Amino acid sequence: MSVVALVPAAGRGVRLGAGMPKALVPVAGESLLSRAVRGLHDSGRVRHVVVAAPADEVPAVEAEFASLRSFVHVVPGGAERTDSVRLALAEAERAVPDARVVLVHDAARAFTPPSVVRDVVRAVEEGAPAVVPVLPVADTIKQVDEAGDVETTVDRSRLRTVQTPQGFAIDVLRQAYAAAGDIATDDAGLVERIGGKVSTVPGHPHALKITTAFDLAIAEAVLA
Ligand code: C5P
Repeated sequence: MSVVALVPAAGRGVRLGAGMPKALVPVAGESLLSRAVRGLHDSGRVRHVVVAAPADEVPAVEAEFASLRSFVHVVPGGAERTDSVRLALAEAERAVPDARVVLVHDAARAFTPPSVVRDVVRAVEEGAPAVVPVLPVADTIKQVDEAGDVETTVDRSRLRTVQTPQGFAIDVLRQAYAAAGDIATDDAGLVERIGGKVSTVPGHPHALKITTAFDLAIAEAVLA
């Protein structure tokens, strides 16, 4: 089954504060986006990648992947992550018409091990309509009221944090996005909304999402 990966990378990276789009921030000389795409490539399971880049950075991103021209397609992203995924999905369906499995992978999870990519693809190939990599929750979780006072302590044994790549049968993701509103931060959540089943595979601590300068410092430490 042909696998295509969408990489939304068009965010401005305001919370990171690096003065450039987050996906283009270099870590030890290589951008987060390049590292994320390399992880997909090194999994050996992804045939094409569609990157949604900041509109004014499309030529620079195309140049960055010049040596992978047949593997990486670059499109301008949109105002919200949802728009960027939508635009990348349309390009994937045009450029890879035989794709049956689609992954959605944030450029911000640049250090995701290729083994996680393989596990997600395998689960979709084995029949899961939607799959997310997850980790157990280490902290105690409390639910609070509007004043900040604790209402209850949530049973964390059944809670999971969700990473990417999230994997989908391409028809399922298409239907989920057709039914979606404007803003969604979690693609699998859109599948839940249309009544679809979402399965899980184990995630990995290195697949952390780089949002703040602190996260970037952790990633640099992991690399070192
Ligand atoms: O901002 P945040 O880290 O939640 O964004 C998650 C991913 O979505 C990032 O890789 C970011 O570049 C991408 N994104 C996008 N288009 C937007 C906003 C975010 O592709 N308009």
